[in-house]
Amino acid sequence: MKNIYSNIFSFNKKNLNKIISILNKGDIVGLPTETVYGLGGNAYSKMAVNKIFKLKKRPKFNPLIVHYYNLKNAKRDVEMNDVFYKLYRKFCPGPITFILNKKKQSKIQSLVNANLKTVAIRFPSHNFTRSILSCIKFPLAMPSANLFSSISPTSADDVADEFKKKLKLILNGGKAKIGIESTVVDLTGKPKIIRPGIINLKSLEKIIKKKINLSKNVKEKIVYPGMAKKHYSPGIPMLLNKKTANQNVAFIVLGSKFKNRQNHFNLSKKSNLLEAASNLYKFFRQIKNRGYKKIHVVKIPNKGPGIAINDRLKKASK
Ligand code: TXA
Ligand code: MG
Repeated sequence: MKNIYSNIFSFNKKNLNKIISILNKGDIVGLPTETVYGLGGNAYSKMAVNKIFKLKKRPKFNPLIVHYYNLKNAKRDVEMNDVFYKLYRKFCPGPITFILNKKKQSKIQSLVNANLKTVAIRFPSHNFTRSILSCIKFPLAMPSANLFSSISPTSADDVADEFKKKLKLILNGGKAKIGIESTVVDLTGKPKIIRPGIINLKSLEKIIKKKINLSKNVKEKIVYPGMAKKHYSPGIPMLLNKKTANQNVAFIVLGSKFKNRQNHFNLSKKSNLLEAASNLYKFFRQIKNRGYKKIHVVKIPNKGPGIAINDRLKKASK
């Protein structure tokens, strides 16, 4: 199928070389991951990192996640610990990000981690992006490929919609399987989840055999800028825990008891929360594009992937 955007490319040897050459020059590309699409650039290059912040219109105090192919490469940049190794062995490559202390000799640009002592690292599992990571000599700083405080993209078309012609190349890796951002866990002290995701508290506790905190402290806002309240937002009023909605209001629902009305956006007819998470941002975009002025959302069970869904809904409704 031909893409409607001329800057969306499919994955093949020729385009892989093109991507590598763009990245080697310190330029930025749109890349698929299993969670959401990202804007990738050389984390060791000041020019590349500056471009990412500029493209996203992201404030400089909000640090980026650094993406690696394997442990060996990440060891150059961060101090690893036992809890990290346990979680890495179980979940990586996969949808989890670790906050660790940055090594003194690390070549990661200080802008990437907003001059903090720590760096967020991740090993994405999408095969296309792993191929790219295996061919380059640096890790990729890669925030979600959306403008600051807009909706994270779950397809190559979404990325093109956000940045139009400002990106030379977006690699098409299909619909992002998970559809919401990785779990972020701070391992520099007592383990703490600072952004819930599909890998949840219970599955983390099972592996490290210790209690984990969910960070709720308001004072931590500066250390954890990504927790800024108004975020992931479709930019129209959103009311949560609603049982009904007029036909001129977009209604995000869950389960088979809801009819197929025009204004209904069913996250999962089977009430499967993993499926629901993968549809959330897609619906935010559709609702916005169809010109609705208001969104109602039914109550989503606060368990398993529902915890991450509720986290994003709460932020989007602020
Ligand atoms: O799934 C994901 O993680 C996606 C894909 C593209 O990998 N990336 C992503 O990046 O969501 P971004 O930039 O949209 O979100 C990164 C989050 C932000 O909330 C940021 O504040 C936090 O990670 N973060 C990054 N470095 C940090 C650090 N050193 N300390 C605390 N939080 C950090
Ligand atoms: Mg983001």
